[in-house]
Amino acid sequence: MRAIYATAPDSDDPLAGLTVGDRPEPETPDDWVRVRMQAASLNRHDIWTLRGVGIRPEQFPMILGCDGAGELDDGTPVVLYPVVSTPGFRGDETFDPKRTLLTELHQGAMAQYCVVPAASALPRPDGMTAAAAATLGCTYLTAYRMIFTRSGLTPGSTMLVQGATGGVATALTQLGVAAGMRVWVTARSEAGKERATGLGAHRVFDSGARLPERVDGVFDSVGAATWSHSMRAVRPGGVVVTCGATAGADPSADLQRLFFLQISVIGSTMGTLDELRRLIAFCAAAGIDPVVDRTFDLEDGAAAFHAMDSGEPGKFVITV
Ligand SMILES: NC(=O)c1ccc[n+]([C@@H]2O[C@H](COP(=O)([O-])OP(=O)(O)OC[C@H]3O[C@@H](n4cnc5c(N)ncnc54)[C@H](OP(=O)(O)O)[C@@H]3O)[C@@H](O)[C@H]2O)c1
Repeated sequence: MRAIYATAPDSDDPLAGLTVGDRPEPETPDDWVRVRMQAASLNRHDIWTLRGVGIRPEQFPMILGCDGAGELDDGTPVVLYPVVSTPGFRGDETFDPKRTLLTELHQGAMAQYCVVPAASALPRPDGMTAAAAATLGCTYLTAYRMIFTRSGLTPGSTMLVQGATGGVATALTQLGVAAGMRVWVTARSEAGKERATGLGAHRVFDSGARLPERVDGVFDSVGAATWSHSMRAVRPGGVVVTCGATAGADPSADLQRLFFLQISVIGSTMGTLDELRRLIAFCAAAGIDPVVDRTFDLEDGAAAFHAMDSGEPGKFVITV
């Protein structure tokens, strides 16, 4: 079958190992299902995989794509839940120390077929395209958990989203607005500001700008470049939720501010199967349509990855 895959890791030149070619169709273990893929989204995680981060060298070649949408053999349209727990694990899947994400141990979604545990193929929201649904399992699920499970914020709270054009930032903005939060966003570009405003953000600011008041919660997926602003932007007793460190993972901890203002710093990773179910229901109830900026045919996978790696903003989806 045709697939976009990483032949070998390269920490300096991640796209060197990117290949569009033929791979064997994965076998379907008992209690797993085969999904005929229609769309799979690009995530920063795919670049980490190409760099060899979070995956052992012997796992290569590895088909990329941690999330996606397709059809079961009986034609049922589904969304993939990307977290694979260890057999027998019960409870919050993100706390399973041996869990993996598609592309870490099991082959990913950028292929004609992908296999997942039967419970991990959830019915696709009515009326949502496969391309839009392909963003739910990773980007939107991460944003959902950050806001609704980890932050403790309730409707009417003020939340600051660092970065406007990023996949997680876009999802945070959309979900926060739909949930009745007062949503403020920082952006490095005019295009970013326009994007956030178009998604319903109530205020947009230059990245690092002084805010008119401190916020109840900050959502930071950027890391070192925005961390000190996040710590300055949150009110005493407020919360900073982090899920990523695109711009570096070693910012100053700002401990004095942290203890003196009693700030809670909370990590968040992916989400549970149940959270994905509720995210799908939330999208249907609130009329949320995930943002897709560009789609690329699977055969043009290299162009999609070059666009992402060169810093072109937006959410890109591979169609199969
Ligand atoms: N823990 C998890 O489960 C999980 C899940 C999903 C993603 N992540 C991580 O979260 C991070 C974001 O993922 P993504 O898919 O949203 O990435 P992305 O689409 O590439 O977005 C990058 C974002 O970072 C901002 N940014 C980058 N460099 C910056 C800088 N120097 N100063 C200010 N802002 C900067 C951009 O802001 P502008 O819009 O202003 O350009 C943009 O909003 C990645 O590191 C990813 O690995 C983690």
